[in-house]
Amino acid sequence: MDLFDAMRDRRSIRGFTDAPVSRALMEEVLAAANMAPSSMNTQPWHFHVLSGEVLENVRKGNSERMLAGVEPSREIMAHGAYEGVHRDRQVGIAKQLFAAMGIAREDKVMRQDWVMRGFRQFDAPVSVVVTYDKVLDEHGPIAVFDAGAAVYGLVLAAWAKGLGAVINGQGIMQSPVVRECADIPEDQVILTCVALGWPDEEFAANDVKATRREVSENCSFQGFDADGAGRRTPRSEAAE
Ligand SMILES: Cc1cc2nc3c(=O)[nH]c(=O)nc-3n(C[C@H](O)[C@H](O)[C@H](O)COP(=O)(O)O)c2cc1C
Repeated sequence: MDLFDAMRDRRSIRGFTDAPVSRALMEEVLAAANMAPSSMNTQPWHFHVLSGEVLENVRKGNSERMLAGVEPSREIMAHGAYEGVHRDRQVGIAKQLFAAMGIAREDKVMRQDWVMRGFRQFDAPVSVVVTYDKVLDEHGPIAVFDAGAAVYGLVLAAWAKGLGAVINGQGIMQSPVVRECADIPEDQVILTCVALGWPDEEFAANDVKATRREVSENCSFQGFDADGAGRRTPRSEAAE
């Protein structure tokens, strides 16, 4: 699969078949994710790959607490309510997903059902809980940046193998449950999880293509020639 095709075509997958995912395939995908660049090659991320009963316990504990109204308990700073253009984009993807699933704006029951699917990690057969080394929190947000690069590598590698994935903050909303069920070491911070499995072709939300900005909208270029070439200035001419 061409890398550009994969980057263009990939989308979050939120409906999965019952087909199992082999550990060997996961190891292949995770090996590719491990190739991500990181600050000074520190490689601060860890992948806890859950399935079967362990994953069932995570979804059960996470969902039950959310349903019972327990305050979300995450280990990274909560992003809170988005505003302005970010809120607009958030609403945009929600509308696309609800439209695909035939969930009406006023249908509170089905909207709640959709939210609960997220807390259950969309009933995926596999979930990768992503953590990073806690000691690096003293060095600012760079470890989160590094882990994010690895997570994008993970979802792209999964896509290249025909697997579907969704990065799923909802799945670790009750992080103490995840920590206990998945036996996460105390010296790691739970960042997110990625739900994975074989895409269910019948699941309408899997066809939703989220919008993106054009290069002209969010990229700026400076110092390029009038003919569009970016060149280095010969050292002798470079400004002192
Ligand atoms: C940090 C992060 C957390 C996310 N958490 C969720 C989530 O909890 N539930 C969900 O349905 N999608 C979640 N997503 C997926 C985003 O909604 C999705 O990536 C975005 O809408 C763009 O769509 P695409 O991945 O199909 O291109 C998350 C993505 C990221 C990067």
